[in-house]
Amino acid sequence: MLPPRTDSAKSRWAWFARRLGAVLGVVAVGLVGWMWWASVLPGSYSAIDMGVPDFGGGPGAETPGAAHGHVSASGTRTAASGPAADETSVSDLTADPDRPADVHVELIARAERVTLPGGAPFDGFTLNGSTPGPTIRATEGQLVEVVLRNEDVPAGVTAHWHGVDVPNAMDGVAGVTQDAVMPGQTFTYRFVAEQVGTFWYHAHQASHPQVVGGLFGALIFGPTPQTDAAAAAAGNPPVLDVVAAIHTYPGGARTINGAIGDSHQEAAPGDSVRVRLINTDSTPTSAWVSGSSFRVLAVDGHDLVGPTAVADQSVQITAGGRADLEVRVPAGGAVRVQVPGASLVIGPHGAHVDQTSAPRDPLDLLSYGEPAPTAFDSDAPDRRFTYDIGRLPGFLDGRPGYWWTINGGLGAGVPMYMVDEGDVVVMTISNSSGEAHPMHLHGHHLLVLTRDGVPSSGSPWWVDSLDVAHGESFEVAFIADNPGVWMDHCHNLPHAAEGLMTHVAYNGVTTPFRLGRDTGNDPE
Ligand code: C2O
Ligand code: CU
Repeated sequence: MLPPRTDSAKSRWAWFARRLGAVLGVVAVGLVGWMWWASVLPGSYSAIDMGVPDFGGGPGAETPGAAHGHVSASGTRTAASGPAADETSVSDLTADPDRPADVHVELIARAERVTLPGGAPFDGFTLNGSTPGPTIRATEGQLVEVVLRNEDVPAGVTAHWHGVDVPNAMDGVAGVTQDAVMPGQTFTYRFVAEQVGTFWYHAHQASHPQVVGGLFGALIFGPTPQTDAAAAAAGNPPVLDVVAAIHTYPGGARTINGAIGDSHQEAAPGDSVRVRLINTDSTPTSAWVSGSSFRVLAVDGHDLVGPTAVADQSVQITAGGRADLEVRVPAGGAVRVQVPGASLVIGPHGAHVDQTSAPRDPLDLLSYGEPAPTAFDSDAPDRRFTYDIGRLPGFLDGRPGYWWTINGGLGAGVPMYMVDEGDVVVMTISNSSGEAHPMHLHGHHLLVLTRDGVPSSGSPWWVDSLDVAHGESFEVAFIADNPGVWMDHCHNLPHAAEGLMTHVAYNGVTTPFRLGRDTGNDPE
């Protein structure tokens, strides 16, 4: 259509502007519609087809079967086809099936109304009738067998062994390493306690509501008497061992081991105590001690080398992270281990120690303790990856929002980090998203090399959960020594559901399990 002839130049321009506006409007709507359409994931897809393969400068792209495409509407693999001859299924990555269990535990998951002593009732979850679930303890080298039974949790449950480098089939991620355990079903987990330290377990199906609601517990691997004797020779070993699982339940009650506010642990003056702090919340917490100085003996299930006494500083514990503190009960008093909103008083019955406000400075683990040689050389890694966290408006599986991105991608556009067994991998995790993210890689431990370019100068600092603040950049290294498909996500659990989730996958490993709205599997 032509502009009306009689119009003045001015009104012709107005006519053009209107036409242009209409065309641009149609284009914009079309583009947004296309973005929406392209973001919608199929109802069922495989985790290994979920991202854009990133080989980190190492081999793999040329290997047949290794170059997984974007997830497409049909998905590219089916459970029925199974792995090809040169492929391994995650289901085959198990502990020795013929070895009898040394520790056998049964966990029964229920959805129920929970009332903590002194607290208001909420709709939550229990394991064997309580939350937290039972503390599971094993000794280094023992085979742990846990039978998880779902009594009546409608969404299904799983158990993930946070920080334990289990065989992949035992990792407990719904839709990646197993199907969610539906009401009336059971799943048996078997793994060897190869690490010594403080860990925890939690649901990895609908993990945000289920973990907040109580589906978690502590998991402690103690040393053998021989290892313990060696530790004793090197210093003085704590005589008491106390678990302190920190958790904020629905309704906001802050607890330690399910107790709201203050709780008490009996100990005698002079006792040295190992306090195993576990942050089961989605945000970092600080912890501090009054009545004693303390040493940080371990972080994320790894003993630190040469920890020195700390006073007037707090310890930051990442979401999902752990810190083992050593404290000593003073003569005529007690020790208070505090987190905002709750504390654990350790000492003789009736002994008093005041609450104190949080020290201003946090202890910097980048320079705490003594350097020591590590098992591998990260100077010439086999692969180098970047895990760059940002935030963009867009569509995530058809939902509009302001989502977290990885290397600028979201949904099926995130990188999928591909490795081979034996690789030394260096990953740079940086964050320009405006918020802190507690990053957690399953099945491996990360050695912190640098933070904002400053090399680690204290004890080797191994983590499975690492707080990366806005504007920060960490260089970490790990050895790819545990084949499988491993989640690598933010442990602020709502953030994982908002896109901050991908996988480290070994070339040639496939999974028969499926994610997506039609599968019932929803790991976040
Ligand atoms: Cu503590 Cu992916 O989990
Ligand atoms: Cu996050």
